[in-house]
This record gives sequence, structure tokens and C-alpha cells, in this order.
Amino acid sequence: MGRRIAVIPGDGIGPEVIAQGRRVLEAAASRQGVSLECVEYDVGADRYLRTGEILPESVFSELQQADAIYLGAVGDPRVENPHYAAGILLRLRFELDLWVNLRPSLLMAPELTPLKDAPQIDLVVVRENTEGAYVGIGGQFKRGTADEIAIQEDVNTRKGVERVIRYAFELAATRRAAGRPGRVVMVDKSNALYHGHDLWQRVFALERERAPGTEADHLYVDVAAMQLVKNPARFDVIVTSNMFGDILSDLASQLVGGLGLAPSANLNPQTRRGLFEPVHGSAPRHAGKGTANPMGAILSGALLLRHLGLERAAEEVEQAVAASVRAGSTTGDLGGRLDTSAVGEAVLERLGERIEAWPRS
Ligand code: NAD
Ligand code: IPM
Ligand code: MN
Repeated sequence: MGRRIAVIPGDGIGPEVIAQGRRVLEAAASRQGVSLECVEYDVGADRYLRTGEILPESVFSELQQADAIYLGAVGDPRVENPHYAAGILLRLRFELDLWVNLRPSLLMAPELTPLKDAPQIDLVVVRENTEGAYVGIGGQFKRGTADEIAIQEDVNTRKGVERVIRYAFELAATRRAAGRPGRVVMVDKSNALYHGHDLWQRVFALERERAPGTEADHLYVDVAAMQLVKNPARFDVIVTSNMFGDILSDLASQLVGGLGLAPSANLNPQTRRGLFEPVHGSAPRHAGKGTANPMGAILSGALLLRHLGLERAAEEVEQAVAASVRAGSTTGDLGGRLDTSAVGEAVLERLGERIEAWPRS
């Protein structure tokens, strides 16, 4: 049975990493007898600069119909409109109600971490993806004058906080069943944001009662950032707000090799809609040079395959990436000498290769 994947290569290194992601994704699915019908959409800075359109309605409605969306990156130094990235990426997250953003960090080879003693790192940030400081409520008054005021509201709803914290507990239970610690850490800043994040505290207490078998505790975001560097092995599932999740997931990615390797899935578990994209942005300095690491995009493709129920294909992609990393078949950011497409090739060649000591999903 074919599945329809809407592909938005986007800006900067987006098209380069997505090209490699597509190759690997299509090959891995085909090894399971599944064909993926990938449809590429011309959405991004070039279109915006050419036509003034950010995300045309006709494209948006097609994206809504797809089995999954696969996106490279959006962001271009030529685009000054501050609503541009929000008009594509945040719009898709909000309007498709993709309320959970999963950002796993797994240390695939000890030499990838900048930390001493190569600790075991296998954690996932569960980022609330439709609320918080990202909703765009606010405004500016007396703009450009000495008296100007800029307000950006932080929105936390009972429904939004509850569903994402509950999801984190469910994910922890699934991970425990697979032999991992299955521990939840809820991260907020309720000592300063004592309206919005007090709601996170109260909902967390209720959800913890509903899951008595799950170890769970709380950290303020400043301490969580420090602990991630000091003792990353203590973390398993981190659940947090939109902005803190954005920041902590970049931090966590660097603990295991950096942004070039970091995947993400934006999901609505009820509607089964999903958007899959590397955590990194368009990295304009790398664009067009063949220096971009496609592994974050390829691993996002694995999350996409898992979302489509193609677990075996997803595992094969993850193992092939890990095998390539361990063999040193990487771009410069990971210490290798290959270019973007040679890394795609190296991963393709290793599909089906099984590696030692790989955590089960
Ligand atoms: P970035 O993630 O694009 O790049 C930061 C740095 O990380 C790069 O300079 C590079 O050194 C490294 N890097 C990132 N991805 C890499 C890869 N695949 N291979 C090798 N090195 C890699 O962040 P930025 O420079 O702050 O943002 C650039 C643009 O991207 C901005 O317009 C920003 O808004 C946008 N952005 C988009 C997304 C997205 O589409 N999901 C995410 C983050 C940033
Ligand atoms: C990410 C990006 C986006 C975010 C930007 C581009 C709006 O940094 O996906 O992490 O902050 O969510
Ligand atoms: Mn980010």
C-alpha cells in the first residue's frame, strides 16, 4: 500500500538534507514492500521573495490530506518579515494541532559527546508544541520611540498542559516496558512564572497520582540545564513548555553529537497527523557547500516511518545511521570527511545491517 508524504525541502540546507532523507526513507520502506509517494511543495524563501506567498491555502489543504509531512528547514537571511517562519512552521504546528514535539537524544558512539567519561545518554524531550510564548498574542505600542512597549503573552491552558504531561507519562511507561528507566522529569519556572507554571505544577501532581508506578520529579529550567550537562544519564523523559523545550532540545542535541544529528516529530496522537523535521534550522553558512549533515533529517525520516507503522523500516534506518557514525562515515561536524550525499549513500549501504548494543524502541 502506498503512503503519501508531503515534502517541504524549504530553505538553506533544507533541500540538501531532505534529498538524502528521501533516498533513505524510500529505500527503507521499499525493503518492507511499501512504496512512499513523495510530493514536493515549493514553499520557502524563494517562493516568498518571488510571489509574496508564505504558505498558500491550496498547499496548506494538500498538506492536511497527507499521511505525513517531511520538512527540511525554514529561515533565510534575505527574508526580513518576522512572520515568515511562524507563517510556515508554527502555522502547521498550530493549525494541525500537532501538540507534542518529540526530540530524542541518543548517544550513538562515545566520541560524539563533549562530556567526560561518555555517559549513557538516551533521553527524549517532550516539548509542548501549540501554546506558551509561541502563540503570538501581544503587540507593540509606540514602536520605535523611547516609550515603546512590547508584550508577548505566555499562554498555558489546562487542556494543553494536561495532554502533554499525560503523554509524557504514557511515553515513560512505554519506555519502561522496553527496558529503559521510564522516568519523567517535568521542567518549568514556576518560582518566577507563578501564574502560568503553577498550572504545570498542579497538573503534574495530578498526572503523577494517575501513574503511581512511574518515577517522576520536577526541576526548574535553570537547574535542568545545569543537570543535563552535569548528569545527563539521570534523564529519560523530559516534559516541558514550548520555549523551554526549544532551548533544552538544542542543549541535549549537543550532548550526543550536535544539531546535525538531532531528529524531531511533531505529532497529534489523536488525529495521527505528523510533521517530521530535523531540530536544526537552515544553517545558511553551510548551504550549497555539501557540508550539511543529513543524519538529523534521515533520523526524522525514521520517526516518520515509525509513525506510519513501519517499525522495522524505522529501526533499520536508525541502525544504519548508528553504524555509519561508528564507522566514521560522517560529515565534518562529526569529525568525518564525507559530503552530504556521500553520508546519505553510506547510510543507504548499511540498511539491514544490525549493530551491537542498540536500545530497543
Ligand atoms: P541552525 O540550526 O540553522 O544552525 C546553527 C549552527 O548549527 C550552524 O551554523 C551549524 O554550525 C550547525 N548546524 C545546524 N545544522 C547542521 C547540519 N545539518 N550539519 C552541520 N551543521 C549544522 O540555527 P540558526 O543559525 O540559529 O538559524 C538559521 C535559520 O534557520 C534562521 O532563520 C532560523 O530562524 C531558522 N531555523 C529554522 C528551524 C526549522 O525550520 N525547524 C529551526 C531552527 C532555526
Ligand atoms: C525549532 C525552531 C523553531 C522553534 C523556530 C524556527 C520558530 O527553532 O523548531 O526548534 O523555535 O520552534
Ligand atoms: Mn529550535
